[in-house]
Amino acid sequence: GKIVFSGIQPTGVPHLGNYLGALSNWVKLQNEASAEDQLIFSIVGWHAITLPQKAKELSASRWDMLATLLAIGIDPKRSIVFHQDDNRCHTELAWIFNCITPVGKLRRMTTWKARLADSRNANSASEIDESMLNAGLLTYPVLQAADILAYRATHVPVGEDQVQHLELSRELAHLFNRTFVPGKKRFFPPPIADITPSKRVLSLRDPTSKMSKSSPDIQSRILLTDSPSQITSKLRSAVTDSTIGITYDPINRPGIANLLTILGACVGKTPSELAEEYASKSNAELKSLVTDTVQDLFHGPRTEFERLRNERAYLEEVAKDGAERARAHSEETLRQVRQFVGLY
Ligand code: TYM
Repeated sequence: GKIVFSGIQPTGVPHLGNYLGALSNWVKLQNEASAEDQLIFSIVGWHAITLPQKAKELSASRWDMLATLLAIGIDPKRSIVFHQDDNRCHTELAWIFNCITPVGKLRRMTTWKARLADSRNANSASEIDESMLNAGLLTYPVLQAADILAYRATHVPVGEDQVQHLELSRELAHLFNRTFVPGKKRFFPPPIADITPSKRVLSLRDPTSKMSKSSPDIQSRILLTDSPSQITSKLRSAVTDSTIGITYDPINRPGIANLLTILGACVGKTPSELAEEYASKSNAELKSLVTDTVQDLFHGPRTEFERLRNERAYLEEVAKDGAERARAHSEETLRQVRQFVGLY
């Protein structure tokens, strides 16, 4: 069977990009799973603290994220859902991986380079300066590899921005096997990224960059908890162009292409099919179609989230049970890892 693993940071309510790029695929994989498949979904608090967080807000987000995952259809009877920080196997394995990871590889990660660029802009220095950034940001992808490989996962449903991290996870799997495993056997399988067609949902305000939690412009993203009127207003102000009619042209018409990607993901059609179907419609008509569809899509999850977030005792029970099952699974991996390395 497959072992599916994925994670999400508890940094606020997920947006449409998280949902269409990753979370909806988690639910799909769960619902299509056979009896031999295992599904493991983690709320990755240790990744979240690579950026400054307020303790109270982080703690609230941590529980809200669990409520969100249940609200969209993750079923704790079928999947293991847990807080990463409840299972120390992740940090232990991350340390061991840190000891075989070349720093040069981490410096080449685009996420690291983006952090450097951010800090350079914020400090308006001409030289790129690493001394301002914490070491956790650099080794972030090593912890991610440990998350995945602690369960010897084979499939990782993520959006496109995580593909390079998945490559590193595969390299670390090989490197560990070669370095430590007798006969260089395939102890860690190379995990593969499971990517959806809507792997990169773009910002509604700047359709040349991805929709992201960290953008200061809240109109740039639709949150899973947005009310129908918030969804309407965000899509109405989405940046498009003044060309007449609908065509799918991601290079020259990124705003329209993004709306077609979103609609396509919701209705199960390709953006090109939709462009043909709506060729003679106006941009405003396309926006209003997307608005109706996204309102429908998020109606159920939003209502369920509002109910579940107040069921703290239930959430704690789910988290406790998930953590126990996650630990049982990964402790066996770590037992063998310690033997391979000589730490037993
Ligand atoms: P995070 O929390 O930033 O995002 C969660 C998931 O949402 C996807 N995503 C998007 N997909 C399409 N379009 C977008 N605009 C968009 N924005 C985000 C992300 O690709 C991701 O799948 N490092 C990870 C969390 C992580 C993880 C792991 C994932 C930690 N350990 C192990 C998989 C396996 C992250 O920061 O995701």
